Amino acid sequence: MAKTNLIAGLDIGSGKMTCIAAAHDEETNTLKVLAGRSVPCKGLRGGMVSDIRETSSAVTHILGSIERECNRDISNLFVGVRGSHLESFSNHGTYNISRMDKEITRADMDLAVENAKAMPLKNDNEIINVVTQGYAIDKQRGISNPEGMEGSLLEVDVHITTGSSTHMNNLAKAIQRPGYKIDDTFYSLVPLAECVLTQEEKEIGALILDLGGETMSVGIYIDGILKFSRDIPYGCDLITSDLSRLLHTSRQNAKEIKEKYGVSFPTFLDEEGEIPVPSLDGRTIHNIKKSYVLDIIQPRVEELMEQVARCVEMSGYKNFPVVGVVTGGGSLMPGITDHCVNILGLKEVRRGIVQRELITSDDTFFDPQYSTAMSLAIYASGCTGYEEYGNSSYDKGSSMFGKFGKWLKGVDIFGG
Ligand SMILES: Nc1ncnc2c1ncn2[C@@H]1O[C@H](COP(=O)(O)OP(=O)(O)O)[C@@H](O)[C@H]1O
Ligand SMILES: [Mg+2]
Repeated sequence: MAKTNLIAGLDIGSGKMTCIAAAHDEETNTLKVLAGRSVPCKGLRGGMVSDIRETSSAVTHILGSIERECNRDISNLFVGVRGSHLESFSNHGTYNISRMDKEITRADMDLAVENAKAMPLKNDNEIINVVTQGYAIDKQRGISNPEGMEGSLLEVDVHITTGSSTHMNNLAKAIQRPGYKIDDTFYSLVPLAECVLTQEEKEIGALILDLGGETMSVGIYIDGILKFSRDIPYGCDLITSDLSRLLHTSRQNAKEIKEKYGVSFPTFLDEEGEIPVPSLDGRTIHNIKKSYVLDIIQPRVEELMEQVARCVEMSGYKNFPVVGVVTGGGSLMPGITDHCVNILGLKEVRRGIVQRELITSDDTFFDPQYSTAMSLAIYASGCTGYEEYGNSSYDKGSSMFGKFGKWLKGVDIFGG
């Protein structure tokens, strides 16, 4: 019988975590989703741990219930991180092939990438992701895979994401405390972009926008290569806060109103109806016009998009993306793609979910809210057919997190 591993992708989000567990058939290199969950977590703020106990308890809850549903233990756990402590930039590495045969091996490519990683990092920062952008052999550029080719000087361009070691360590502690081992960690935008964007979109020039509750992640692809990525510490929960404040209702009610009735563009206001809004104490119900809710949502969405536009402007790649793909829970807001077209100046914008040919699942999980967790499982298992340096295979165990996990094992951070 073919061997299958239970691979879990854990998306550390804003105020919640989401997990997808999939069976990975090693023989056919295919994935099938067996379970998925999302649980609220008071210990997370903007993708970072603000309370280890709360976060550990949410990890126990989500992974425990996934294991019970699948009736087996998680074999490999991949964690996706985000937050304003992350920084991404490009760098360059070189390696001289001094052997007689000059045939470039995987080890030579690894050494070129290692050289690209050798750079001064800010205090308390560590490398989280390294994505290769392309190679050059003896100054001939545009080589995607130099393995087996001949040359003397191998060069590589990489996109590196760094993050605060303190934040990463706190997250690792929160996950390891209930006894789970992290196989690897990724900047969640990278797997997401690889699984949501098509190759054509990446080639023509694409912007991916992941709209979460407390963060927005922006990625830019040009000529098929990830050139820029950044996390912005604001998200769609601001719409919820506005509605709660201006409609005098609880945050929970405001969230429900936003998700059920909210639209962000006038053309989506089908008819002028009224929405029942419970008062703060829940005793009375007021009826509010739908157009009033639009008047609250629209300026906030425009402001969020302007933040994204400023980020794109600062990237230096403003004129390159032609198409846009929006994903994450916030992408479900009707009218969001129109704002992307108007404010970001993109020709065409669509909502994105994980491409269906990458994984087998029922429709429930082909949803923007599950996209990150799903893409973590796909990317880590190598089912994208795409290779990220050093992290493409889950049995490598070579990541910073993997190493970190080894020394942390057995340390009881709560002393009991
Ligand atoms: N149908 C919907 N319409 C508008 N916004 C939504 C909808 N569903 C979810 N959201 C919003 O998406 C945000 C959460 O995005 P999500 O990707 O699920 O979380 P995370 O921040 O963890 O990535 C929240 O602000 C939530 O209210
Ligand atoms: Mg999300």
